Amino acid sequence: MNAGPLVEVEDLVVGYPGARRRWIEAVRGVDLSIPVGSTLGLVGESGSGKSSLGGAILGLVPVAGGRVRLAGQDLVRARPAMRRRLSARLQAVFQDPHASLDPARRIGESVGEGLRHALGLPPAEVRRRVIDVLAEVGLPASAADCFPADFSGGQRQRIAIARAIAVDPDFVVCDEAVSALDLSVQAQVLNLLLRLQADRGLSYLFISHDLSVVRHMSDEIAVMYAGLIVERGPASVVSASPAHPYTRALVAAVPVPDQAEQGHRRAARRAAVVAGMDEAARSGCPYAARCPSVTDRCRSERPVLAVRRSGVAVACHLDLDTPAEAGPRPAGRSLGARP
Ligand SMILES: Nc1ncnc2c1ncn2[C@@H]1O[C@H](COP(=O)(O)OP(=O)(O)OP(=O)(O)O)[C@@H](O)[C@H]1O
Ligand code: SF4
Ligand SMILES: [Mg+2]
Repeated sequence: MNAGPLVEVEDLVVGYPGARRRWIEAVRGVDLSIPVGSTLGLVGESGSGKSSLGGAILGLVPVAGGRVRLAGQDLVRARPAMRRRLSARLQAVFQDPHASLDPARRIGESVGEGLRHALGLPPAEVRRRVIDVLAEVGLPASAADCFPADFSGGQRQRIAIARAIAVDPDFVVCDEAVSALDLSVQAQVLNLLLRLQADRGLSYLFISHDLSVVRHMSDEIAVMYAGLIVERGPASVVSASPAHPYTRALVAAVPVPDQAEQGHRRAARRAAVVAGMDEAARSGCPYAARCPSVTDRCRSERPVLAVRRSGVAVACHLDLDTPAEAGPRPAGRSLGARP
């Protein structure tokens, strides 16, 4: 299945201008590589930099440093014409199809947009391909003449997927693509993504804050905290035997059904991640303020991502090659168990 890297990210830095001339560094020197036909799951709390990383690969947010390559070709320094050509090979599916599908446009127009503009196909060919791709995601040809409001959330996400695959990309960033859907609809959309991957040889960057969904979808998992990758390895190993204290805490996090409580927890975690970014700017471990195993060394020396005997790369000063005490296990859904 895997045949060399399709997407390579090297020492990537993404930053935004913040209030009072502050520079918010959302991605702080990340290296990644995603093989052809494979899925890298990117997991981390709100504000950890997942969308900034995905956006930088897609060319949607400016890159402050480092490189992004698609099949060996530099996307960051490509001339505009080359960048446009390469961009058609990179597509995205976001959380909210409400925001990404124009409510005033018929589905056929939205799904066919890339075929018209990026590939310059004539109208009859666009129509034919739109109907084919709608069928591929399980929607009838008549859907092309309807508007987004005529569909359920799950169907709209199928339409967003149809639009992404219409231009026959190599690589799709799925950024919280199922997070807004009910569990049973989530499972259907995840299975659709897996089928499309098998049929078309697609590679995915699958971004989610839900480790159980990421594990189900991914060959490898990268765990992001405060703009840094803190753990990366085979999906089954990272999710079953998390090594980094932050990954262990993520695995232990119990999903709460109460929406308001979820919102409070999310805000608290985002504040903690922002605090971690300040800490990270000061050369120590970004997780030091929250880590139960913190030592003085952690506050002054940033741990580098190093491959352990398990084959998993972990950025932590702990000696993780000695057997760790059993970490807390999730009390909610079991990892990987999809409805
Ligand atoms: N356009 C922007 N301008 C300023 N700061 C931004 C912008 N986009 C993101 N940030 C900041 O960069 C950091 C990383 O944000 P990002 O959206 O990449 O995180 P995330 O992991 O995708 O979070 P979430 O799970 O909430 O989607 C956060 O501190 C965020 O506030
Ligand atoms: S380096 Fe130290 S603070 Fe950071 S995760 Fe490891 S033990 Fe915790
Ligand atoms: Mg995001």
